[in-house]
Amino acid sequence: MAPPSAVSSMARPLLKIQRYFRRKPVRFFSFILLYLTAGSLVFLHSGFVGDSSTGENGGRDPLVASGIGNRVASSEGRGVGMMGRVVKDTRRPTPRRYGPPWMKGAGGKDWEGRGYIGCYIDDTAKRALRGVSFFDYKKMTVFRCQDNCAERGYLYSGLEFGAECYCGHKIQAPNTSESECIMQCKGDKGNLCGGANRLSIYRLELSQESARHYGSAIFKGCFHRPDNITLALPISAVIQNMSVEKCVDMCTEKELSLAVLAGDRCLCGFPTPHFSLHEMEDEDMCLHRCHGEEFESCGNDEYFVVYQTQVQDNRCMDRRFLPTRSKQLIALASFPGAGNTWARHLIELATGFYTGSYYFDGSLYNKGFKGERDHWRSGRTICIKTHESGKKEIEAFDASIVMIRNPYKALMAEFNRKYGGHIGFASQAHWRGKEWPEFVKNYAPWWASHTLDWLRYGRNVHVVHFEELKRDLFSKLKDMVLFLGLEVAENRLLCVEGQKDGKFKRSGLRKLDYDPYTPEMRTSIDELVMTVDASLKKRNMAGVPKEYRPTPR
Ligand SMILES: *[C@@H]1O[C@H](CO)[C@@H](O)[C@H](O)[C@H]1NC(C)=O
Ligand SMILES: *[C@@H]1O[C@H](CO)[C@@H](O)[C@H](O)[C@H]1NC(C)=O
Ligand SMILES: *[C@@H]1O[C@H](CO)[C@@H](O)[C@H](O)[C@H]1NC(C)=O
Repeated sequence: MAPPSAVSSMARPLLKIQRYFRRKPVRFFSFILLYLTAGSLVFLHSGFVGDSSTGENGGRDPLVASGIGNRVASSEGRGVGMMGRVVKDTRRPTPRRYGPPWMKGAGGKDWEGRGYIGCYIDDTAKRALRGVSFFDYKKMTVFRCQDNCAERGYLYSGLEFGAECYCGHKIQAPNTSESECIMQCKGDKGNLCGGANRLSIYRLELSQESARHYGSAIFKGCFHRPDNITLALPISAVIQNMSVEKCVDMCTEKELSLAVLAGDRCLCGFPTPHFSLHEMEDEDMCLHRCHGEEFESCGNDEYFVVYQTQVQDNRCMDRRFLPTRSKQLIALASFPGAGNTWARHLIELATGFYTGSYYFDGSLYNKGFKGERDHWRSGRTICIKTHESGKKEIEAFDASIVMIRNPYKALMAEFNRKYGGHIGFASQAHWRGKEWPEFVKNYAPWWASHTLDWLRYGRNVHVVHFEELKRDLFSKLKDMVLFLGLEVAENRLLCVEGQKDGKFKRSGLRKLDYDPYTPEMRTSIDELVMTVDASLKKRNMAGVPKEYRPTPR
């Protein structure tokens, strides 16, 4: 057991602050006020600057950011050498009494399998998890800690002292008895958040939302060896004291975008139909310790660990205008906030042709959407972005790809865009103020009427659900390319898969930590969803994705 005095050093300054305020009630009041108004924001702004900061050890001392109970610790020593895998993983995650809700089955996809792995010793001088960290002495929850670590690409999240959250790529301390991790989480009494110098550690599964990084390389997963290795991965070498870093370095040097670890062998190549990375294996199959790095796994002859290097895959980078004027005008229609820009990015990469727009947005032009400046009827672009609805506007097009997205997500995205710019965010004041309810009242019905109009007046409609495109990029994008009347180049599509994010995705760092939708809003939005669902089904199309189909009451 931890000695009683072993109160985490992280907590000590706070106790002092509390003692101080007890003597100075007025200041305590303003402290509370400051906390209430700024608390979450301060955390979100400062909490994770450590992600990019470096420093061999200097950064590890706790430093008080804005003095409001939210602090930044530091990042791991070096940027590279981070992404480790614990190989002594004979312990399988076992659900336990206090397991987080998403472990009880069902649950959102992003949260599946974020398993508790045990209680670990922590040491203020030598942290068990050395990534970024943050503290919240009022509202810490397991979910919040996991969310923040996962979002930054870490493999582990650990909770300590009920209030402290640490992220890391490897666990650098031994485990200990479960009876030592017994403090309740400050923001969720039903879950345990470690103890004094004890961490409740969770392993985070690779989620759709966040890529796991190893320095600048991205972890792609564990894959079975391809049928013909020389064909699939042309460069190969046996490396002494093999580690992830060594293989990534080698493939980066050879200017190839995949670094593949197979025991002592490092292979490099590009994703191709011979090795498409479409069938991911259970990561456990790849858990074979690297010879040169105790906490990393290097796979073996059968199961390969794959990373994507920073080398750009140029097979899908060229873009041009259509060489001959297109005979038909194809719309890329969506409600604002439904991922239109992302879809344009994908279509341009997949087809090699610029997309146009019904509008002109200089910032998009500057980001490389060269078709933005063409008149929408120029006939030089492969499809044309539009948010219009209404009979006349729709009938101006010969065909259309209609993108539909979860209205709950689309409304929030559009609200952020409206009040914060293309990759910005609306402020807390906007969300809490009258702007948000007003916005929902006006825009939610439009979300539905937009789709209904395109289904009704559109001539040749191809519906794409944003969520399905995300889930199954390759085949959905392939369908879109075919719908646009072009031939599918698989290598090109595989290249797109490797760079699907583009540069305009909102970073996601500033998430709301509460649900902005009131029950009344939900009732009316659910109704709209069902209307759209029915309209799709009436046309023999699949209904809306299950993510946002309301559950029958
Ligand atoms: C560490 O974990 C292993 C496997 O779960 C367990 O058997 C062992 O008792 C743990 N160590 C301590 C000190 O509790
Ligand atoms: C792999 O492909 C290459 C090139 O097509 C061929 O020469 C070789 O025989 C193939 N190897 C196997 C094991 O099929
Ligand atoms: C591999 O590791 C061993 C033991 O640590 C060391 O003696 C040897 O020099 C290393 N070889 C290379 C090529 O790094």
